[in-house]
Amino acid sequence: MDLHQRLLEVSRGFRIDYEYLGYETIQMGNVNRTYKVNFRMPDGMPKSFLVQNVNTYAFRNPVGLMENIDKVTEHIRAKKPGQLALHFHHTAQRKTYIVDGKNFWRMTNYVPSVTYNTVTDLKVVRNAGKAFGEFQMDLADFDISELTETIPGFHNTRQRYENFLQAVREDKAGRACQVQEEIDYLLSVQDLACTLTDLQQQGKLPLRVTHNDTKINNVLFSPEDNSAMIVIDLDTVMPGLMGHDFGDAIRFAANFVEEDCSEYEKVGVNLEVFRAFAEGFLSKTAQTMTSQEIDTLALSCFVLTVELATRFLADYLDGDLYFKTNYPEHNLVRTRCQIALAKDMYKHLPEMEQIVRDCVEAAKAVK
Ligand SMILES: Nc1ncnc2c1ncn2[C@@H]1O[C@H](COP(=O)(O)OP(=O)(O)O)[C@@H](O)[C@H]1O
Ligand SMILES: [Mg+2]
Repeated sequence: MDLHQRLLEVSRGFRIDYEYLGYETIQMGNVNRTYKVNFRMPDGMPKSFLVQNVNTYAFRNPVGLMENIDKVTEHIRAKKPGQLALHFHHTAQRKTYIVDGKNFWRMTNYVPSVTYNTVTDLKVVRNAGKAFGEFQMDLADFDISELTETIPGFHNTRQRYENFLQAVREDKAGRACQVQEEIDYLLSVQDLACTLTDLQQQGKLPLRVTHNDTKINNVLFSPEDNSAMIVIDLDTVMPGLMGHDFGDAIRFAANFVEEDCSEYEKVGVNLEVFRAFAEGFLSKTAQTMTSQEIDTLALSCFVLTVELATRFLADYLDGDLYFKTNYPEHNLVRTRCQIALAKDMYKHLPEMEQIVRDCVEAAKAVK
């Protein structure tokens, strides 16, 4: 069956009966396959929907994932009647997905908007911070026991270290001898990197609903004024810590270079971007954060960066089984880039902590 036919059948399955006009493939995003599907309504007006073919290799529990997404999006929608919100369509059987062979389909409203893979405009960064902060606040009263942990131990840093150490011991691809320096560094910062995990296990940091993929390209912006419209890509919504969302956003957006840049001397945390994101995020969240959350927020950036380094290096040692690689040393370059970023973040930790305190104070003064 060709893709036109499939998308048409999927749309009909989600009870869209308008005249089918065609589809466009959306290139942004690199996990799922995403299409804008276009229709004409009886009054002649065009209407589009967003259809995704979910990557069930990356997401092993797509049904649990869709249940999480449906609960979370409906919770947000109920809070903002009349406002723009992400909404997943249901089939006649009240399901938010259609399985056809190996394909797993879902459909949402299409939001005319712009997305950015990388940003230098601090206003856009600040707005992204606001959007992710607001997302957490919209879900502050959501009962997390209703969510399935679709990827168990996603940010359990102790567990990530266990996996990394196992990869070192097994040395499946015979590469451990080349990376002793990286192994030594990661071991030397193990306890610091496990701060969030340990505090959470001691009950000192609250579990919240977290997005867990807080890249800027998961925010839709208004083409008119670059204000943030909505947060999308909720595949990894799970119980987590506030620092996971904040730290990962900074790790990704505030690096001077791309995540796999091999010019390690250029790697580092851009404090202007850090400040802009923190301003936006904390303007929404500061009021409800605990003092432990505030105190560990800057450190969370270091934690998330080291955690990812352990995953890249483990995969390199295993022979590149998990992350897609474009050349043999790709995972090693990624590891070195994350280590360089972690070292730079550690050096600038006092400044980052000061910025967080300033933003918290400013946010509290406004309210
Ligand atoms: N509801 C939507 N309206 C308009 N564009 C969207 C919508 N959802 C996703 N997109 C676009 O599709 C891209 C990929 O979607 P996303 O859900 O982030 O997939 P992936 O998991 O592959 O990153 C987004 O970066 C955005 O440009
Ligand atoms: Mg995405």
